[in-house]
Amino acid sequence: MIDILIKELVSDICKKYKISGIEAEKIIHEEVKKYNKIISKWGKEKDPKKIYRTSAYKDFVKKIKKKIYYSLRTYQKEGATPQLSHISTKERAEYLKEFLFQINDVLKLVDVVFDVGGGMFLTSFPFDDYKNIKKYIWLDKDHSSYKKILDFVRENNLQNVELFNEKIGQRDWHNYLPSYKEKFDVVLMMKLVPVINRQERHLLVNLARIPAEYILITGNKESMVKRSSIQKKEEQIITSFIAMSGKSIIKKIDIKNEFGYLIK
Ligand SMILES: C[S@@+](CC[C@H](N)C(=O)[O-])C[C@H]1O[C@@H](n2cnc3c(N)ncnc32)[C@H](O)[C@@H]1O
Repeated sequence: MIDILIKELVSDICKKYKISGIEAEKIIHEEVKKYNKIISKWGKEKDPKKIYRTSAYKDFVKKIKKKIYYSLRTYQKEGATPQLSHISTKERAEYLKEFLFQINDVLKLVDVVFDVGGGMFLTSFPFDDYKNIKKYIWLDKDHSSYKKILDFVRENNLQNVELFNEKIGQRDWHNYLPSYKEKFDVVLMMKLVPVINRQERHLLVNLARIPAEYILITGNKESMVKRSSIQKKEEQIITSFIAMSGKSIIKKIDIKNEFGYLIK
């Protein structure tokens, strides 16, 4: 009976969440260990429907879903290459060429790039194709991304990269600018605005005031955790952010699992 319960639960979870059967099964088996007494009771039951109705089973499922939710929500995955260690960069990896192609016109022109909430994107950026970029400034509050990025920058001798491991708003935007510049040529806010809207909404006004010629703002089409579309919700957040910035949309960006706007 237990094997049947686990099999059905794995299939239910894989339909809803972005997790493989193997990973889901591993989490379930860990949780099962804590339910030894009840599990032996379930083992004797012939009708699974009777088990599904019990509060113990409902509690068991709730705990597993919570575990899966939190394991999927973490941006960082240990043991992966830098490019694949951050969920946002990993999801884009397959479509990176297409993504860059759509913003190539702007990237080819610029001197100074400011990657706000940059995560691990820098590790997949083809610096050799953009020799025009004199400075690539990275800002992110996450310390574990910072350590990996720092190693990557040193290993690849990327002299034009400058890193700031701090929170948005810690200093005035002009402090990140090279002295010869009054505004950034392009600011990357990739998959950032919806996160800030959710976690630190008060920062949006500051973010919208960033001095920039162009801003690239993107959002996710699919939830990081569930197999459901979140594009409409993220579009609304991004559209009102663009209105707040006072800039105009000059191009729409669209790849399989990410959408965005280039504004000026
Ligand atoms: C969804 S990830 C996107 C990463 C990257 N831009 C990409 O698209 O590949 C959001 C990033 O924003 C960073 N972040 C969130 N809030 C921040 C804040 N207040 N200050 C600085 N970084 C922040 C997180 O640490 C995370 O790396």
